[in-house]
Amino acid sequence: MDLKQLNAFVAVADLQSFSAAAKITGLSQPSLSRLLKQLETDMNVALIDRYHRPLQLTEAGLFFYDKVRALLIELDTITNMTKRMSAPSSALNIGFVPSVLYGLLPEIIADFKHSAHQGANEADIEVNLKDISSYQQIEALKTGEIDVGFGRFAHQDPWIQQILLRHERYVVALPKAHPLAQNEEQRLIDLANNRLILYHQTHLPVSTTAATIIKTPNGMDKDIDSTEPVTEPLLHLFAQHGITPLMTTKVSDLQVALGLVAAGEGITLVPASLKSMRTEQISYQPLIHENVTSPVYLHTLKDFIHPKIPDLLRSVYQVYEQRGITYRVQQFI
Ligand code: BEZ
Repeated sequence: MDLKQLNAFVAVADLQSFSAAAKITGLSQPSLSRLLKQLETDMNVALIDRYHRPLQLTEAGLFFYDKVRALLIELDTITNMTKRMSAPSSALNIGFVPSVLYGLLPEIIADFKHSAHQGANEADIEVNLKDISSYQQIEALKTGEIDVGFGRFAHQDPWIQQILLRHERYVVALPKAHPLAQNEEQRLIDLANNRLILYHQTHLPVSTTAATIIKTPNGMDKDIDSTEPVTEPLLHLFAQHGITPLMTTKVSDLQVALGLVAAGEGITLVPASLKSMRTEQISYQPLIHENVTSPVYLHTLKDFIHPKIPDLLRSVYQVYEQRGITYRVQQFI
C-alpha cells in the first residue's frame, strides 16, 4: 500500500467518479483504476461498489475512507510544520476574533513592535493580522496560514495548545436613554424583558440545556417545557442563571449589535474592554454576577512555536499590567 493509492482512493470517494478523480490526481483513468484494484487486491477487501452511478463506497470502503482521509490531512499538517520548522517565516501572522481587535489587540501589537524595535540589532518584525473565527484558527494554524491566534472559545485538538490568558467580565450595553441606565450595576434578571441582540457567529461546542423554569422580571417563576440545547454564547450565560430572555434579534457581528443598541433597538452584553465604543449613545454597566465572563485564549501549535510568540505573550502581560488586569502567567508546553 502506498500514498499514491491512498490519494487516488480518497479522490474517487470524494468525487464519486473515476474520470473526475483521474483529472484531479493527474493520472490517466486506466492507471487510476489499476491503482485502486491493486489496493483492493492487497487488502483483499472491496472498497468501491462499481455497479452504482455515481460510484459508492462499500461499508468497508466508508470505514477506510474516514480513517485514511484523517491520516492524509494529518500527514499534510506534519509536512507543513516540518517545512516551517526548518525555515520559520520572518513575519508573524496573527489570527484574531473581532472582539479582541476592538479591545486590547492594537495596544498589544504596538507594545510588541516597540519592544522588538528596542531589542539589540533586531530588525523590525512584519506583523500580518487576519480576522478569523476561533474554530477556523485551529485549521489555519495547521496549514500555516497563521502562527498564533487569539480567540474566545475552548478547543480540544491534539495539535494545538491553548493558553488561557484571562476571563474577561461582560458588561451590559444599553441605550443612554434606557431607564436601567440609571442603575450602577445590572442583574441579568432585570434585563430579561428587553430585546437581547445576539451577535456571535460561533456557538459553544458543549450544550447546556435551557432552564426548565424561567425566572421572570416580576419575580414569578414560569415553567417551560424545553430540552433545547443552548449553544448561543449570550443565551448560554442567561441559561446558566435560569433565565430565558423574552425577545432576541440575531445580527451578523458585534458592530451591528452596538449600532442597534445605539439606535435604541435593544440591549446586549459585550466584553468589558469594548466599553469605549459608541459612548455618545451607549451606556456600559457592570453586572453583579462575577461569573458572567468571556475567556480570552492564545492558540498556537504544540510542536512548533514561532520564535516571536514568547515576545508577543510578554506584550500581552505588559498591557495587562499597565491596565491593572488580573492574570496568571502561563507557560508554553
Ligand atoms: C485581551 O483582551 O485579553 C486580549 C486581546 C487581544 C490579544 C490578547 C489578549
